[in-house]
Amino acid sequence: MTRVDASPYFVGDVEMLVDGSGLSAEQGWIEVESPRDGSIIGRVPRGGDAEVAAAVAAARGAFREWRDRPSRERGKIISDIATALVAELEHLARISSLENGNALRTQTRGEAAFLVDCFRYFGGLAQEAKGETIPIRQDVLDYSRREPLGVVGAIIPWNAPLMLAAVKIAPALVMGNTMVMKVAEDAPFAVLELSRICQRFLPPGVLNIVTGYGREAGEALTSHPDVAKLSFTGSTGVGRRVMEKGAERIVPVSLELGGKSPQIVFPDADEDWVVQGVIAGMRFFRQGQSCTAGSRLFVHRDIFESFTEKLVAELTELKVGDPLDETSDMGSIVNQSQYDKICAYIEDGLQQPGARLLAGGVPGPEDPRLSIRPTVIAGVDNSWRLAREEIFGPVVVVIPWSAEDEVVEMANDSHYGLAAFIWSKGLGQAVRTAHRVEAGWVQVNQGGGQALGQSYGGYKQSGIGREFSLEGMVESYTQQKHVSVNLAH
Ligand code: NAI
Ligand code: MG
Repeated sequence: MTRVDASPYFVGDVEMLVDGSGLSAEQGWIEVESPRDGSIIGRVPRGGDAEVAAAVAAARGAFREWRDRPSRERGKIISDIATALVAELEHLARISSLENGNALRTQTRGEAAFLVDCFRYFGGLAQEAKGETIPIRQDVLDYSRREPLGVVGAIIPWNAPLMLAAVKIAPALVMGNTMVMKVAEDAPFAVLELSRICQRFLPPGVLNIVTGYGREAGEALTSHPDVAKLSFTGSTGVGRRVMEKGAERIVPVSLELGGKSPQIVFPDADEDWVVQGVIAGMRFFRQGQSCTAGSRLFVHRDIFESFTEKLVAELTELKVGDPLDETSDMGSIVNQSQYDKICAYIEDGLQQPGARLLAGGVPGPEDPRLSIRPTVIAGVDNSWRLAREEIFGPVVVVIPWSAEDEVVEMANDSHYGLAAFIWSKGLGQAVRTAHRVEAGWVQVNQGGGQALGQSYGGYKQSGIGREFSLEGMVESYTQQKHVSVNLAH
């Protein structure tokens, strides 16, 4: 098994992790390209039915022993992984930047640091999956237990692979499940490396990582009869497919999907700190490649020109460049097809009557490879594709509003409902609006990322189920059993 070494900018061939060892694939290898310069940084096996079957068999084989361990022991192992990760964070962050193009300074270092918090948090919750007792009769003891489901089939995307892997691995394992995770073909290495650190502490087969394409390895996993739970993060289209596969076998499904999240700026919020918060909320530092990106910006008519001017001035200062360069604020778009898709959205939007480009736009020949500058488009109608579909790029549309009812209606006129951001010093109107917006997570006067302890997840077509919290862990990764004991005999 080749060890991943991201310097100098090369990773090599890395096998899957199955039953505690490396595994290659019958179908050969997939080349992984770095968006920073287009070079091939390494290869992963092109897994399919056979390799997924081996991984599921390993996970199934490891399940009973893992489930039957004292929960305190499982918690300790997950906490020990957290401690071991501390020394590996820079290494993990660099691999991540190299493979998916997110900037090291503004994104992947913070994402790597989150791993430690995440494993520590869930490790500490091992004994918190408590049951209830029901007062049925004096001579009956009725109580409930939370039991693991078995083999969890997890699938993650490329945009924040370390974070998205950790919020599935740590809670699923701590609750006594075993896992087969399929990583994204565009960004497999950082999670494979994370899994090898986990493997130093875990029994073989408890955590298995498979690589390959969605339609091959992904489908093999969602179709496998021994998978007891599906947990998916990615596009709404594939999420729908995962849910169909789950329906065939009545397997519970958790989905964390896309978004087109609104940011609502009230007339009393025409200030620099709001501009900074809106930029963070738009996830510009991740090139907008985030499911929670606040990509529909509703600015009150009274401050529209003044606020957008300040926003454009700030965005022009951001440096888009090599993701590994410490001075880059933003890195690269993950691959050519996502880049082409984002450019097509910008072109399509600018052809609509009245559309005005305030910043950024389709890159020219002088721009670095796969780089798109922060793009702001005004004069957009809330019904346009640009305002309705998830672009997954650094593109925000700005739409003016006049009345609170009107802006709430526009914000809710979406089949998505993941996140929202409200900006106002008037607590009443801000919180009132937060309550009216159809989204699983609303932030008022801040634009940061998810925090452990919050049950994070979407309304409407943004998903089903919650992650990042004790409650989400118990709901997603356990099933409830009632035991009724007759005490009369
Ligand atoms: P995707 O949803 O196709 O990929 C996510 C994961 O699902 C990958 O591991 C992929 O291999 C796997 N997958 C694909 N097809 C599958 C299938 N039939 N069965 C099982 N697994 C399958 O996302 P992709 O193609 O990378 O990006 C396309 C668009 O999806 C983006 O432009 C963005 O709009 C959205 N997206 C949203 C994300 C989010 O967190 N909300 C994350 C990534 C993408
Ligand atoms: Mg790539």
